[in-house]
Amino acid sequence: MQSGPVEIAHLYVHVPFCPTICPFCNFHVLRRRDDLVEAYLKRLDAELATTAQQWPQSGPLKTVYLGGGTPSHLTEDELQRLLASIRRRFVLREDAEIGIEVHPLNVSADRPARWRELGFTRVSVGVQSTQDRVLRTLGRPHDAATAMAALQSVLAVGGWTVNADLIVAVHGQDVAADLHRLAASGVDHLSAYTLTIEEGTALHRQGFTVSEEAERHAVELAAAILPSYGLARYEVSNHARPGHRCAHNLAYWQGRYWFGAGPSATASLPAPAGGRQLLRNAPLDAWLDGTAAHVELLDALDVVRIALLTGLRLAEGVDMAVLEVADAAQEVAAELDGVKQRIARLCAQGRLVRVDARLVVAVDEVVVLERLLAELW
Ligand SMILES: C[S@@+](CC[C@H](N)C(=O)[O-])C[C@H]1O[C@@H](n2cnc3c(N)ncnc32)[C@H](O)[C@@H]1O
Ligand code: SF4
Repeated sequence: MQSGPVEIAHLYVHVPFCPTICPFCNFHVLRRRDDLVEAYLKRLDAELATTAQQWPQSGPLKTVYLGGGTPSHLTEDELQRLLASIRRRFVLREDAEIGIEVHPLNVSADRPARWRELGFTRVSVGVQSTQDRVLRTLGRPHDAATAMAALQSVLAVGGWTVNADLIVAVHGQDVAADLHRLAASGVDHLSAYTLTIEEGTALHRQGFTVSEEAERHAVELAAAILPSYGLARYEVSNHARPGHRCAHNLAYWQGRYWFGAGPSATASLPAPAGGRQLLRNAPLDAWLDGTAAHVELLDALDVVRIALLTGLRLAEGVDMAVLEVADAAQEVAAELDGVKQRIARLCAQGRLVRVDARLVVAVDEVVVLERLLAELW
């Protein structure tokens, strides 16, 4: 049971519009239509108002993250309206991290400075690769020169955190070259995602595969190359210079509560009767019509499982205290005992490591994290 006031200090806003739909992506996305954008901004304003009313005690926001989809597909006026909607309904801390995901095709020379003026403190550029062949394989609508020019324009503004998204383990990719070029560009943060072939995507229908060997090789290269540029891995796929970790994503991995707004956005909030609930908004059409979010109430075991499995994604690991449930029912206690036994076995095998009160995934296991987590729970 939750006692005392809870802190909900993070807001995710989903912007579903994209310049083109990439064949590897299964996020909730669609091509822009001006009438839909107008309806989207109005509905978003209403949703933020309702959320703020429902949670008057939530406190100032520490992070706001505009993700997608492609938030940079909105014009400056539209972004200004969206940020004004947020500021009208929520108090933001003065040092709040306000992040935006941008697509290389949306970055003209003058736009980054205007995004900075609007108040964004963190920009993430979807470079994906510095090799034209890889970008073509990924079905991206831009070449490497365009992506790197976009990154340079964002870096040139200064005074904010710049991330580049890279996709690794793509057939025919020179991963080391991509890592070196992006790290040398001067980014503060680098996300290197292993290509996942998601069901329902065009790549999946084409029978595209990613070899485990390519995956392992990519993870090993990132570990060997990025530290020499001052980029330390703090999560499976994420690397940052000191002071530039993504506070918003850290909040997810550390099991904090967050608000979600926009079509298909998720939220993790206190449940009315204690414990936690996960909410998922409807896709665009239904969301525009006012369809309520799908609510999943988490039981005590769900809460522990999510805290343990997401916490283990972090290089700092997870506090073993997440496994302690006060007044656990007999079946819950028995299940947790089983998990603790499996943890002890994985520690004995050297696959998990105890560091004081924390549990950390051994370096060699990071590449097979999903398999390890499946064995654990
Ligand atoms: C919302 S997009 C970023 C902004 C913008 N929409 C773009 O693509 O440039 C989030 C990121 O998720 C990553 N991503 C999406 N689908 C992926 C997949 N199937 N495998 C690996 N990474 C993926 C890409 O690196 C992408 O930049
Ligand atoms: S990768 Fe980015 S641009 Fe491509 S479909 Fe996904 S969200 Fe849209």
